[in-house]
Amino acid sequence: MADKDISQAVIARLPRYFRYLGELKERGVERISSQELSDIMKVTASQIRQDFNNFGGFGQQGYGYNVNYLYEEISKILGIDRQHSLVIIGAGHLGQAIAGYTNFTRRGFVFKGAFDKNPELYGKKIRDVEVRPVDEVEDFIRENNIEIVVFTIPKEQAVPMAKRLETTGIKAIWNFAHVDLDVPDNIQVENVHLSDSLMKLSYNIDRYEKSLNP
Ligand code: NAI
Repeated sequence: MADKDISQAVIARLPRYFRYLGELKERGVERISSQELSDIMKVTASQIRQDFNNFGGFGQQGYGYNVNYLYEEISKILGIDRQHSLVIIGAGHLGQAIAGYTNFTRRGFVFKGAFDKNPELYGKKIRDVEVRPVDEVEDFIRENNIEIVVFTIPKEQAVPMAKRLETTGIKAIWNFAHVDLDVPDNIQVENVHLSDSLMKLSYNIDRYEKSLNP
């Protein structure tokens, strides 16, 4: 089945499967039934079977799932069986925190550059990478085949920046600025808003408390 037929809801669940399978692999577990996976992950076994059926099942009747195979297949589907190079625009608090997080590299997201418009930051090192003037970003992207650009700039700056980068060959923007970006179809945008997650948390606090005092 082609990826385009797989719902975004299923795709959104794959990283979690990937994480759990990675842990099982590290513990030396070679195979697992959908029921066992269901018990660990607190997802119904039928949900797991349905999700994996989107990709041809991966399982064998009476055997369960081969952990290593499943892990590799999911990593291929997620495109993390290969490396992606990325740069960060906006080397402030959030930009530096993201750039400093080495685990992304383990997943194949290789941090190649950081750009800012504040001269005081030029030359500052984040891991092995020096912050450069943002005016150099287009050339840098072209010369280094950068695929992903992380936006950690103020929202007013994000829309014109996306426009500037349209013809550089980037494939995606990981957008932390609180604004929707209108880009051509060849550029994928993933918006990340931590406050959405906090609001969901707040809702769940309320819901739990109301259930105690209906
Ligand atoms: P910050 O002020 O520490 O860093 C912003 C950096 O962007 C500064 O170094 C500034 O010089 C630079 N900058 C501004 N315009 C630029 C341009 N045109 N080109 C290059 N660099 C430019 O701010 P912080 O806390 O790091 O937040 C950055 C952005 O991320 C803000 O828009 C903020 O609202 C957003 N944010 C989003 C979160 C989310 O969950 N999506 C969470 C926290 C912040």
